[in-house]
Amino acid sequence: MEPTTRLLHAGDGADPGAHPAVAPIYQTAVFAFPNLDAIAAYYERGEGYLYSRNANPSVRDLERAAADLEGCEDAVATGSGMAALTIGILTVARGGGHVIGCGDLYGGTHALLAQAESFGFTASVVPSADPDAVAAAFTPDTRLVLTELITNPRMRVNDIASLADLAHGHRARLLVDATFATPYHCRPAALGADLVMQSATKFYGGHNDVTAGLVCGRRSLMQPARELAVLLGTTLAPFEAWLCLRGMKTLGLRMRHQSAQALAVAESLAREPRVESVDYPGLPGHPDHALARRQLQNGFGPMLAFTLAGGAAGADRFLRGLKLIRFEPSLGGVTTTVSHAATTSHRLVPPEERARRGIGDGLIRLSVGCEDLDDILTDLRQALAN
Ligand SMILES: Cc1ncc(COP(=O)(O)O)c(C=O)c1O
Repeated sequence: MEPTTRLLHAGDGADPGAHPAVAPIYQTAVFAFPNLDAIAAYYERGEGYLYSRNANPSVRDLERAAADLEGCEDAVATGSGMAALTIGILTVARGGGHVIGCGDLYGGTHALLAQAESFGFTASVVPSADPDAVAAAFTPDTRLVLTELITNPRMRVNDIASLADLAHGHRARLLVDATFATPYHCRPAALGADLVMQSATKFYGGHNDVTAGLVCGRRSLMQPARELAVLLGTTLAPFEAWLCLRGMKTLGLRMRHQSAQALAVAESLAREPRVESVDYPGLPGHPDHALARRQLQNGFGPMLAFTLAGGAAGADRFLRGLKLIRFEPSLGGVTTTVSHAATTSHRLVPPEERARRGIGDGLIRLSVGCEDLDDILTDLRQALAN
């Protein structure tokens, strides 16, 4: 079966007695045992469930569906994308390992790496994810290379197969944050990534009603990742897992539609005189367009950014002028939203670093949703005229 079909049926048959049409929510913190034999079976053979910080059937439904979708052996679900990232990093690098974070990185990731030493690892941040630039950052202790598939917010596309080769050549692992692309456009594990991480708060959940994260990979990495997640208590709750799984049923449909709309919006914005530049990998003038065509399938994703003349004042006038599209500092929902990276997601990135990365005060990030295209374009145009 194709991934969308499999997702639509994920969790089917979870309760063999009652045959529910939709997988139930196991809203329970603990599970009852009839006797000591059952406890022994749990600990010795992994049969059943004990306590929902360790594992819960609704959360396992989500983990299995995500692993299947990403083409990985297993997945660990967490209470947020940052928790998934932290579990991924610590699984490989805790105890003094060195991590290379490369390319544009989400502001929260940047802030985490800046505090690496207080968490028991060291980190270097390399501005470019070009493998030649990254090669110089390896040390004898490097255990992990961390990158984003499509970067937040400048929409650079990183070459996952080359970075995987580079990392493996140094006996290190590659962790890819694939939040902006989702497996609908690219499955980094098939390109050599050892760990794939998603902020499921975004497109996986898809409705801005859940905060969740997923880290996926081989069983040999997911086993220690799960032990760490149980120890640190980064667990996802059953209702949140169920909401994610419900959202994921339409992931393929949403991504197909939103990506097609994003391309049309990017083309339209590129013709607007008040827009200085548009960052979208689907545009032929984008610096990574050729790589994006090779590495991404089914389009280029629903995210784009554009820079307005007039810096912060211009951005503020534009945001005030929007009537339909709201300024919501997140992304990935079914409605079109905008954000202002310099004052929200990348606020913790030092201003000189923001300037070097082209995250100016006039940069607007757009998450293109499912509204009729004409309504999106009309609202953007009238706000630009503001
Ligand atoms: C690319 C990327 N990775 C990770 C995260 C963190 O995810 P969460 O907010 O679910 O912790 C975000 C959040 O905006 C993000 O944009």
